[in-house]
Amino acid sequence: MAWRQLKKRAQDAMVILGGGGFLFTSYLTSMGDDHFYAQHLMPALQRLLDPELAHKLAVRFISLGLLPRATFQDSDMLEVRVLGHKFRNPVGVAAGFDKHGEAVDGLYKMGFGFVEIGSVTPKPQEGNPRPRVFRLPEDHAIINRYGFNSQGFSVVEHRLRARQQKQTKLSKDGLLLGINLGKNKTSVDAAADYVEGVRVLGPLADYLVVNVSSPNTAGLRSLQGKAELRHLLTKVLQERDALKGPHKPAVLVKIAPDLTAQDKEDIARVVKELGIDGLIVTNTTVSRPTSLQGTLRSEMGGLSGKPLRDLSTQTIREMYALTQGRVPIIGVGGISSGQDALEKIRAGASLVQLYTALIYCGPPVVGRVKRELEALLKEQGFSSITEAIGADHRR
Ligand SMILES: Cc1cc2nc3c(=O)[nH]c(=O)nc-3n(C[C@H](O)[C@H](O)[C@H](O)COP(=O)(O)O)c2cc1C
Ligand SMILES: *[C@@H]1O[C@H](CO)[C@@H](O)[C@H](O)[C@H]1NC(C)=O
Ligand SMILES: *[C@@H]1O[C@H](CO)[C@@H](O)[C@H](O)[C@H]1NC(C)=O
Ligand SMILES: *[C@@H]1O[C@H](CO)[C@@H](O)[C@H](O)[C@H]1NC(C)=O
Repeated sequence: MAWRQLKKRAQDAMVILGGGGFLFTSYLTSMGDDHFYAQHLMPALQRLLDPELAHKLAVRFISLGLLPRATFQDSDMLEVRVLGHKFRNPVGVAAGFDKHGEAVDGLYKMGFGFVEIGSVTPKPQEGNPRPRVFRLPEDHAIINRYGFNSQGFSVVEHRLRARQQKQTKLSKDGLLLGINLGKNKTSVDAAADYVEGVRVLGPLADYLVVNVSSPNTAGLRSLQGKAELRHLLTKVLQERDALKGPHKPAVLVKIAPDLTAQDKEDIARVVKELGIDGLIVTNTTVSRPTSLQGTLRSEMGGLSGKPLRDLSTQTIREMYALTQGRVPIIGVGGISSGQDALEKIRAGASLVQLYTALIYCGPPVVGRVKRELEALLKEQGFSSITEAIGADHRR
């Protein structure tokens, strides 16, 4: 009996190792084959690995450079000048994928024009108990309630310092780095946490992100909420302005797609008044569209991916209008094609990001989005991304 079990174990191990070897070889050699990845490789990997382990392994592989160099060459059309920088292409990886800044160079190699690491919290923290990430494959969506697991400012600071010179060169070459700042769960003074983030990580970033994602708290709705937002952002900007040397990062505010009309007006007003450099629109949603098919749709947490796409695009449209197109927007939420990206750009985004599409389509999605985006720009008579930003508002 014991022998039979052992034999069965051994067989399983062979299948997994053999399968793993096959998958690994495919992963390395099939770059560019979007169909193979989206239809075969990613689903097979997902059957093998739970979502958090898959995420961990993906970051590990990418950090080791274990992926073939992307073949798509960024054309001049895709270049965007914004936030005081030249971005080689407008497609970035959203916060939450490389939370601790371990895979920045691999992500550039994958073809991203910019990488946003984080959220990073001041002190290391575990986040929520597992399981805390859920796949909704039928919906091309993810629900996560990681709860900001982070290695903390100090570890990330030292990791980034070790490649700071390299990043300075990359940034000059149009490959930019953003850092998304968080606060400790136990913190009683959010502003203090963010200010410390500006001081410690600001010198290492081209832009910083402060989260105003407050999805379901009364927060902003109250007068106190508004005063708090103004106070928090004032402090953050003061600290940024006080940084020495050439490294003064742009400061962006990231918002949820679940805000009320009043919240959005308030944020737009404060952002304009204080001179915040940009907006990231949007974070995940706490809402659950009735269209969701995935059996895990009722898990608590933030929903990302395809079901978020249009909600996010509409929020971009609204924020662009509320800020008269004067505040640069990074559009994020459910992008997996060139058309998805262009819709957000036409609605008002200067740059875009994605995360969930990477989970379902793998690395080739980056090249695909850029290739399709370039083709669509030409088709619609735009000679550059810049011309297309906010185009819907000028029709
Ligand atoms: C697993 C996971 C973890 C995330 N963690 C963070 C985070 O730490 N900070 C943050 O600002 N956004 C985080 N996000 C939100 C993404 O940055 C992005 O705003 C959202 O997922 C929408 O983009 P997408 O539909 O392309 O994934 C996370 C998203 C996912 C799926
Ligand atoms: C983002 O803001 C919300 C609302 O204020 C807060 O609950 C959450 O912890 C913040 N996230 C981070 C990473 O600080
Ligand atoms: C972060 O969390 C730690 C430990 O919970 C706490 O002592 C500290 O005040 C918080 N804020 C900062 C800026 O470290
Ligand atoms: C994003 O949204 C989730 C829930 O949808 C929330 O818990 C989190 O605090 C928000 N902010 C960030 C930075 O992720």
